Amino acid sequence: MRKKVIAGNWKMNKNAVEAENYINELKELVKDSTNEVVVCVPFIALCKAINAAKETNIKIGAQNMHFEEKGAYTGEISPKMLRDIGVEYVIIGHSERREYFNESDETVNKKLKSAFEYGLKPILCVGETLTQREEGITKAWVTNQVRLALDGLTNEQIGNTIIAYEPIWAIGTGKTASSEDANEVIRWIREEIKNICREVAENVIIQYGGSVKSENAKELFEMSDIDGGLVGGASLIAEEFAKIVNY
Ligand code: PGA
Repeated sequence: MRKKVIAGNWKMNKNAVEAENYINELKELVKDSTNEVVVCVPFIALCKAINAAKETNIKIGAQNMHFEEKGAYTGEISPKMLRDIGVEYVIIGHSERREYFNESDETVNKKLKSAFEYGLKPILCVGETLTQREEGITKAWVTNQVRLALDGLTNEQIGNTIIAYEPIWAIGTGKTASSEDANEVIRWIREEIKNICREVAENVIIQYGGSVKSENAKELFEMSDIDGGLVGGASLIAEEFAKIVNY
């Protein structure tokens, strides 16, 4: 049985003190959860969040990283820096990074390899635009993103990659993919992983993301192939995020 992983993605919200207060509130609310609870916070809030999450079942993640260990990359944060302060997870290739910061399938692939090299657990984001969905190319697009992202990874690394299927038209819009549609795309993703590496395909955790909230979490997460969620807006309030974790 695959574990459910429920991850919050705060995006560019909350400062370090707010992060600390949030984790202190959340830890009481999710302490009995058997799901994996992850909160991905802004870089400047990582240290305080990690401290507050010590001896709890909450794991802390970053929302991005560079693929190099160090060097002349002004303003960037390396995987080693994240690992050194105790970060466990990192979101890679979120659609907002692909759209606003020119991340390509190639940099996403480099980042995935680098995350594993430094012992971070990557949450790889893939998903189609509304136009692509309307054109009927969702399957081709999403499976291609997965194939390019996983290119050259070892079987073990593929098995340990968490994938978040996030249809771009559902992110921050209040429009959720129907649980059947989300489940179908996730099944296609797993089929694609089977083509790449049959042995580990059943272990890969594949989440749904895009306007997940406490009212729709249960229906989505109880689908046969959906292994939890990546939650943006609804993760900003500890009480609401806890309801999603404890769906
Ligand atoms: P949302 O964001 O839950 O606000 O739609 C999800 C995401 O971008 O990861």
